[in-house]
Amino acid sequence: MRVADLIVHDAAMAVRERGRFTLALAGGRTPLAAYARLAAASGMPWARTHLFWSDERCIPPDNPDSNFGAAAGVLVSRVPIPPDHVHRIRGEAEPREEARRYESVLREIVRGDPPRLDVILLGVGEDGHTASLFPGSPALDEQAHLVVAVDPPPGVAHQRITFTLPLILAARSVVFLATGAAKANAVARVLLAHDEAMPATRALAARGRVVWVLDEEAARDLSDAIKEQGRQAWVRQTPPAV
Ligand code: 6PG
Repeated sequence: MRVADLIVHDAAMAVRERGRFTLALAGGRTPLAAYARLAAASGMPWARTHLFWSDERCIPPDNPDSNFGAAAGVLVSRVPIPPDHVHRIRGEAEPREEARRYESVLREIVRGDPPRLDVILLGVGEDGHTASLFPGSPALDEQAHLVVAVDPPPGVAHQRITFTLPLILAARSVVFLATGAAKANAVARVLLAHDEAMPATRALAARGRVVWVLDEEAARDLSDAIKEQGRQAWVRQTPPAV
């Protein structure tokens, strides 16, 4: 079972129960292979799917660092999703105004207060950041807004627009994707130590299902017991592909 199959499963269930499927894509490079597999997957109700992004860099979509640009190449351009169901964060716009606009789009399309997205995909940085919620950022304490503009920490390129924790915690399913040995320490600090200095730890308190999809290298520092527990949980909650 792969992440793409999990998404197809959740999408079919969401459309059955609520008539539509709302999915927020993660930024970064890790999820791109999963996006390519999702593009090739059968059974995805694209006509009833709405795509969002959990964060974006404040750059135009044709910039190589654009999260939308990366996903457009491997997924959006390859699936029959109605163009008005692709809700891009406009990285070229004034960040604070765009954060307000994007929040209003989410509130218009996603039911619930706060809006409950069906699936939010997230990555994790080596410093434990997720979406564009970086360690020590005031955005981590944001309760009023669902989407905010943030200044990146030193060494991180581009201003960002990001989901805040109230929106992330409300999701029906939060799926973290992490691969490679460079993420092993961050994964262990989050999943074993529940280190609050790591923003990704805060997402463990999500109302819905929280799934971590790791390769062997990223899971390297987890105990065998946790790995086995994870494998069993994955089998339980990822029914046969639809
Ligand atoms: C971003 C992401 C960010 C990303 C992690 C992991 O815009 O950079 O939203 O949270 O998911 O930094 O990035 P990689 O998958 O490239 O390691």
